[in-house]
Amino acid sequence: MKLLATIAAASVAVVGAAPALESRQVGPTGDDGRPTNYTVYSFDQLIDHFPNSSRYVPHTNATFSQKYVFDNTYYKPCGPIFLYIGGETSVQSRFSNLENGIIQTLMNATNGLGIILENRYYGESYPYNTSTTEQLRFLTTEQTIADNAYFAQHVKLENVTDGDNLTAPSRPWILYGGSLAGAQTAFSLVEYQDLLWGGIASSAPVHVVKAFPEWYYPIQKFGPSDCITRINNIIDKMDSLVQQNNTRAIQQLKEIFGLGTLSDIRDFAQTIAFPIGGPLNYPTYTWQELNWYPAYDNRGFFEFCNNVTNQNAPENVTAVDTMLSNYTNGQAWTGLGGYAEYVKNVVVPICPSEDLIDTTQCFSTQNKTYWAETTNSVLRSYMYTTCTEQGAYQTAPFDPNQPSLISRVLQVDYTQQWCTWGFRDGVPPNGPNTTFYEQYGGYNISAPRLAFIDGAADVWNELCYHGRNATAGHDGLRYGDNQLLITGAGHHWDSYGILNISAEPDFIRAAHEWEIRKVSGWLQEWDQSHSSEKVKDEL
Ligand SMILES: *[C@@H]1O[C@H](CO)[C@@H](O)[C@H](O)[C@H]1NC(C)=O
Ligand SMILES: *[C@@H]1O[C@H](CO)[C@@H](O)[C@H](O)[C@H]1NC(C)=O
Ligand SMILES: *[C@@H]1O[C@H](CO)[C@@H](O)[C@H](O)[C@H]1NC(C)=O
Ligand SMILES: *[C@@H]1O[C@H](CO)[C@@H](O)[C@H](O)[C@H]1NC(C)=O
Ligand SMILES: *[C@@H]1O[C@H](CO)[C@@H](O)[C@H](O)[C@H]1NC(C)=O
Ligand SMILES: *[C@@H]1O[C@H](CO)[C@@H](O)[C@H](O)[C@H]1NC(C)=O
Ligand SMILES: *[C@@H]1O[C@H](CO)[C@@H](O)[C@H](O)[C@H]1NC(C)=O
Ligand SMILES: *[C@@H]1O[C@H](CO)[C@@H](O)[C@H](O)[C@H]1NC(C)=O
Ligand SMILES: *[C@@H]1O[C@H](CO)[C@@H](O)[C@H](O)[C@H]1NC(C)=O
Ligand SMILES: *[C@@H]1O[C@H](CO)[C@@H](O)[C@H](O)[C@H]1NC(C)=O
Ligand SMILES: *[C@@H]1O[C@H](CO)[C@@H](O)[C@H](O)[C@H]1NC(C)=O
Ligand SMILES: *[C@@H]1O[C@H](CO)[C@@H](O)[C@H](O)[C@H]1NC(C)=O
Repeated sequence: MKLLATIAAASVAVVGAAPALESRQVGPTGDDGRPTNYTVYSFDQLIDHFPNSSRYVPHTNATFSQKYVFDNTYYKPCGPIFLYIGGETSVQSRFSNLENGIIQTLMNATNGLGIILENRYYGESYPYNTSTTEQLRFLTTEQTIADNAYFAQHVKLENVTDGDNLTAPSRPWILYGGSLAGAQTAFSLVEYQDLLWGGIASSAPVHVVKAFPEWYYPIQKFGPSDCITRINNIIDKMDSLVQQNNTRAIQQLKEIFGLGTLSDIRDFAQTIAFPIGGPLNYPTYTWQELNWYPAYDNRGFFEFCNNVTNQNAPENVTAVDTMLSNYTNGQAWTGLGGYAEYVKNVVVPICPSEDLIDTTQCFSTQNKTYWAETTNSVLRSYMYTTCTEQGAYQTAPFDPNQPSLISRVLQVDYTQQWCTWGFRDGVPPNGPNTTFYEQYGGYNISAPRLAFIDGAADVWNELCYHGRNATAGHDGLRYGDNQLLITGAGHHWDSYGILNISAEPDFIRAAHEWEIRKVSGWLQEWDQSHSSEKVKDEL
């Protein structure tokens, strides 16, 4: 997710006495001996898994080519199969999970084989050449998770020992997904528990809402308080000008940010929210792009805050703080100069020309034709899911008296207009139908051998297993050893690794050790239940 984006982030164990058939299917390897590239394979996947469901009339028996890659460098015959659920991006952008991330960690610990399956309607796994609303109708959660089950039952890995004998349920398939893919992992385990042996759902938004102001809550709570307070105050002042319809002052404010020509006030509000995270999509690095490991980290958010709070700002920057004081009873807009400076230096230059600021090529979103374009794209597929099933439109807080990091002009209607322009009557006019997600259990979701791991500072956390609403009055405290909340962590931080668990920060390391124990326990259970079956058979 930029959502659950994607915008949306490596030693060698013994491969074992691998018979000659087993060839290394992977591409070049890095210094550490781990692969850095993988051959992409195609799987014939059904477009429509539900020939009897009225939801998919008219039906089709056609298939599409679903992409996957695998890594058998740690594999020993009869080891577990780890299926990494691709989510809203290409299979290539998930390679690191096999190379040095969570799947590598689990493969190494258990002599497992890792596979990444690309999500339908992403990367090169589009069933159709374009994405008309009609063509997108098979992009639903139930079809997507049915892909996982069907793949696990039918895949054959050529030239791999055991490769034609890996399918579920005769082998232990364990799913892992982060973010949207985490929710799909959890839903897959609920729906196909006779087929899939276990799953780890990381930062999985299993709970569904239409408006999601809580996205900003961890930033409000954990961000540097001087920076946060300044932004809250600037937003209050901006919103009071909007309330007063002080068009002259608002024009001045836009010009201070170098966005004088951006006509829609909501587009302006979104654009200055980019450093924090604008609704649906944003072009710069925010809280969500922070990471525990420097090489994977982007400090954009903190650089932004350092601008807002800069004590050594040049006079021409601090002078901006009082430029609008006349409109606010003489009160300065403390930090406005630094805020605007950051936006002018980092956000505005993304636009190739000042003349284009008020177009959809840059910061306007008010162009119906743009949203209706049917070219296959990540944004269009992700939008469709948002508009039909997933919701979570980022908005200002429900209570207008509560401090806000984004202007209160950003409400549900802002995102909904894109849905309507993009897909017309192919999507519900008032936001997603939440029953499609809710049927899997929401916060109460559970299945055998399904574990939840979340980050306490993750912007999506309120939709996850550890959301505060999941535990009325108990701030997300959950009991039971099927779950772990990583203190201080962001969005599926456990999916990242560095090929050396002992060198990881304590809480990440402990999370990885917990995941290894969890999976090892599930595999012991597998061995026990399957050997007892054999005994039964023999008796
Ligand atoms: C692989 O597992 C072994 C044994 O548990 C461990 O010592 C080693 O550090 C792990 N290596 C990597 C790269 O994960
Ligand atoms: C990975 O392999 C593919 C197919 O062999 C190739 O096209 C691509 O350029 C490679 N990528 C890298 C980063 O080496
Ligand atoms: C799909 O195949 C089945 C079995 O051959 C057939 O009964 C059904 O009519 C086909 N559906 C479509 C939409 O072609
Ligand atoms: C298939 O795998 C199972 C489980 O590892 C094993 O018991 C069985 O012998 C294998 N079958 C063949 C034909 O290799
Ligand atoms: C499997 O091995 C055969 C013989 O070496 C080769 O021709 C074929 O391309 C291989 N298939 C894959 C998918 O690598
Ligand atoms: C706000 O002011 C502008 C120009 O002064 C005017 O055209 C517009 O109707 C006003 N809007 C509202 C909601 O009062
Ligand atoms: C302001 O942001 C820029 C761009 O990210 C960064 O290079 C600079 O260090 C920041 N300024 C301060 C005072 O931290
Ligand atoms: C402040 O002055 C610097 C150096 O002349 C210039 O680059 C910058 O754009 C000015 N900033 C503002 C807000 O005027
Ligand atoms: C604020 O208002 C005063 C009195 O009307 C005026 O003299 C001054 O120039 C104004 N300042 C700004 C920055 O607009
Ligand atoms: C609106 O979007 C269409 C399609 O992307 C584009 O061709 C057109 O130039 C855009 N118009 C404006 C005013 O941005
Ligand atoms: C949502 O979808 C469910 C299941 O298809 C359906 O029963 C229900 O009527 C829909 N709700 C709305 C408000 O459309
Ligand atoms: C949490 O509960 C409050 C109060 O019922 C509700 O307004 C809000 O939308 C809920 N948030 C989430 C993420 O469920």
